[in-house]
Amino acid sequence: MVASNEKVDVLTTALVVQSARSKRSKWMALKLVALLATVFAVAFLHTNFLNVKFLSAMSSSHGVAKLCPQSDALYPESHAQLWKSLGREFDEDAFMTRAVAWLGGAVRIPTEAYDNMGPIGEDERWEAFGPLHDYLVQSFPLTHKDLTLIKVNTYGLLYEWKGSDDTLKPLLLAAHQDVVPVEPETVDQWEYPPYSGYYDGKFIWGRGSSDDKCGLIGILASVETLLEKEFKPARTIVLAFGFDEETTGLQGAQHLSDAMLQKYGQDSFALLVDEGSLYSDIGGSIIAIPGIAEKGSVNTKVRVSTSGGHSSVPPAHTSIGILSRLLVEYEANPIEPHLERGTPIYSTIQCVGQYGKNLPAHLRALVKTSVHSDRALRKLEAELIKDPIYNALIGTTQAIDLVQGGVKANVLPEEAWALINHRIATQSSVAAVQQRDTDVLKHLAKEFNLTYTAFGLEVSNEDGPTAGTLILTDAFSTALEPAPVTPVTEGSTPWHLLSGTIKATFNSHRGLDGADNIIVSPGITSGNTDTRYYWNLTRHIVRYNHHDAGNGRVLPNGIHTVNERMPADNFVEMIRFFSTLILNADENRKI
Ligand SMILES: *[C@@H]1O[C@H](CO)[C@@H](O)[C@H](O)[C@H]1NC(C)=O
Ligand SMILES: *[C@@H]1O[C@H](CO)[C@@H](O)[C@H](O)[C@H]1NC(C)=O
Repeated sequence: MVASNEKVDVLTTALVVQSARSKRSKWMALKLVALLATVFAVAFLHTNFLNVKFLSAMSSSHGVAKLCPQSDALYPESHAQLWKSLGREFDEDAFMTRAVAWLGGAVRIPTEAYDNMGPIGEDERWEAFGPLHDYLVQSFPLTHKDLTLIKVNTYGLLYEWKGSDDTLKPLLLAAHQDVVPVEPETVDQWEYPPYSGYYDGKFIWGRGSSDDKCGLIGILASVETLLEKEFKPARTIVLAFGFDEETTGLQGAQHLSDAMLQKYGQDSFALLVDEGSLYSDIGGSIIAIPGIAEKGSVNTKVRVSTSGGHSSVPPAHTSIGILSRLLVEYEANPIEPHLERGTPIYSTIQCVGQYGKNLPAHLRALVKTSVHSDRALRKLEAELIKDPIYNALIGTTQAIDLVQGGVKANVLPEEAWALINHRIATQSSVAAVQQRDTDVLKHLAKEFNLTYTAFGLEVSNEDGPTAGTLILTDAFSTALEPAPVTPVTEGSTPWHLLSGTIKATFNSHRGLDGADNIIVSPGITSGNTDTRYYWNLTRHIVRYNHHDAGNGRVLPNGIHTVNERMPADNFVEMIRFFSTLILNADENRKI
């Protein structure tokens, strides 16, 4: 996941762990729900449409509210023999040894992505991906014999495993080849060198082991193993591996998206599974929270220009003074968060309330009551938004992250500007946030006699002589809408295929039976993934690769920090997940 947003995950996880360990008060318990829910999740279902669906889903079974509807575990049927044979292989020590070697070898090839990299062919740092490609060819010989591979924009990898039935929409599996850089000054804090790929009998250590070479190698290992078993798919399987996910995705995923749109067309995939959320122990139950949505983002630049002059004869307000007043206005009027039924975060709270059996009864009752009682919903909201992290994940945030103005001690500043970074709630939009940013300053623009232009439109033009101008713009023209929400209602087969696959994987990896050993809840990933470029390929995008966040690990597997590592057993389980997903998708005729 992208670095800037990943910090939320880390911080949230840390707080979750602290609160779980140290206190059992009502507030902390509530906070626990909130935080756990938000580590992975939130989303948005179109209010009217989905409320109807949601409420009907709740009242469907024997009049008992289904707060968190669950799918059954889904085991391959026509591929049952093959799947069982694969399962036996995954259980063997020899397979673990092989998996460890596959991932360790990939970790040993540093493929760091940096901000501000120059063009491919000019900036030599891109060449790091060449050796990785050689490694993949050598490690997965059958894959490279039987699948077609197109290199997109030099380093993007697009594989196609052609199915026999052209009428079936392909399955798309995504991962990224790049890793975040290792800070040179932190190298001595690593237990094993960051690019060692060292295996200590439990973990594979190194940068990328967990984010996201386990996804890349996990998918390829599944394909290679299925090919060894002579599996021939009916449904085409496409693999898309970007190489700058950790920075912008502009070179990798954006080009891959164009290539796939050209080759397969709009809405051409049955299901897309990319990295993203994890599963973990929440309130005493193992809960997987696949991301069905992502927040949007926009950076608003606020620029004030006034006439300059010598500082010995100053006006009452300089550009910097005016800008300061404007920024105070923003912070005095934060965007109010609202907990809404039908949003993915609400679905997550429902699941945690229903299955977090260690949580206090009164809290679980409040969650339950909020389904039909507006009063309870507001009460729940009031409790939750006291927590800054919850507040952030439920609503649209603002943070004044940059400010600049002035050139010299005795010169009046002609210009001052600041940048406000917003993360947009799933039920909001870029336009709504820009409108709000515009409105909140209107009275001040008038008070300071400024000509006011916002996002290309004139807001006010003073009649008399103006004191200057106020201009709002989309700072880098990189505004991103919240992602379309993946359907999860009862009729949504791709979602149920995924849910059932998660359960079958979890069970078979542990020799368990039943549907509720792991609970599956819709959620939102707090960061963006390469999927931001893939919206037009399918409505059914899920960010999840069966990664275990464990129970109480502060930094799940050191993602984006020192001591990144991957539990070997969980890595084998990921391979089992991708293999089961491929077989389940292959025999399903409803997607
Ligand atoms: C704005 O202009 C009006 C009328 O010219 C003037 O009275 C007022 O002081 C000005 N406001 C500021 C903040 O300069
Ligand atoms: C999807 O397609 C529309 C219409 O062609 C386009 O405007 C939009 O940018 C595309 N979205 C993505 C994420 O590629």
